[in-house]
Amino acid sequence: MIVRYKYPLLKYNSFGIDVCSDKYIRTTTIKETADLLSRGDIDPGKLLILGGGSNILFTGDFHGTVLQPAFNHINIEKNEQEYVILSAEAGLNWDSLVEWTVKKNLGGLENLSYIPGNVGAAPIQNIGAYGVEAGELITKVHVLSLENGKPAFFTARKCMFGYRDSVFKNELKGKYLITKVELRLRKTPAEFKLAYGNLEKVVLEKGKITVRTIRDAVIKIRKEKLPDPVLTGNAGSFFKNPLININKYNELISKYPEMPVWETGADTYKISAAWLIEKAGWKGKREGRAGVHENHALVLVNLGRADGLEILELSRKISNSVQTMFGVELTREVKVV
Ligand code: EPU
Repeated sequence: MIVRYKYPLLKYNSFGIDVCSDKYIRTTTIKETADLLSRGDIDPGKLLILGGGSNILFTGDFHGTVLQPAFNHINIEKNEQEYVILSAEAGLNWDSLVEWTVKKNLGGLENLSYIPGNVGAAPIQNIGAYGVEAGELITKVHVLSLENGKPAFFTARKCMFGYRDSVFKNELKGKYLITKVELRLRKTPAEFKLAYGNLEKVVLEKGKITVRTIRDAVIKIRKEKLPDPVLTGNAGSFFKNPLININKYNELISKYPEMPVWETGADTYKISAAWLIEKAGWKGKREGRAGVHENHALVLVNLGRADGLEILELSRKISNSVQTMFGVELTREVKVV
């Protein structure tokens, strides 16, 4: 376990915001983390669990304790006829897990390649890309109570996964630390999901359809569109794609027939936040040291030593203008602290 005071978090957030935490603790095993929490001397209200820091915007120094799990083992829990159940610990880099599974020709996670962040954060916002969400593969989420360090687990049903949503962002917010995630993957990959955008075309350019060619294609598409946080601070999509009802859908589609839409339920349509933001004139715009990425309007970028408030202010201007122009509310995907 590492304990530090007045600890710089610049390296631990992909937006590249230069802030400190009053106290910083990194734990290297689940047991050590449970023991720490069982002592009851950390106020859960002043505790921030930090994963890979790729979905967070710091607007100032953090006056409390940042706890960063560093345990990162992968284990095969069950080997069934068609599936394996894997467990992956919270501190493991998500894409290292995907690469591990692709190397073993296990099917399920390939579309979720190259998503930044750690395994422990994946169930919280139910990460998703190219037609797949982590919640479709996750069978169980193991946790520790922040109040007393007691272990528990939640089955997938209890996690209530939705679009960039789960029970951990709602009823259970601030109550648990996720230690380990179990996933069910196919031993002989068969059901590939290639319908999203131009994915199938890019896969076929790589060769015949395998988990490896899908992974390679997804990485290629993401690298073309999304900025590398090592070079340009960002946290991926800043907003969620809005869900609208049929009345709003009819109103918008008659005015903008070219608007990208995905039907996601009986009376629910998902529309593209990137498209709304681009249409409102923000793509590639710069405001001081904050900006909107030139290749993807949903990605806000730190153009050099911006502070979190500048980026937050830009995000407010963007959502106000989208609200005024389309009457659609944008909600943040990124956690603002
Ligand atoms: N589009 C624009 N302008 C742009 C960018 C995109 O009009 O500047 C339009 C495109 O034409 C396309 C549509 O928006 O029709 C969708 O674009 P894209 O495929 O890039 O996906 P997205 O809806 O913007 C979501 C996820 C991404 C994920 C991709 C691919 C959310 C909030 N974001 O973005 O996830 O990689 O789909 O599946 O759902 C993230 O969560 O951080 C993230 C990057």
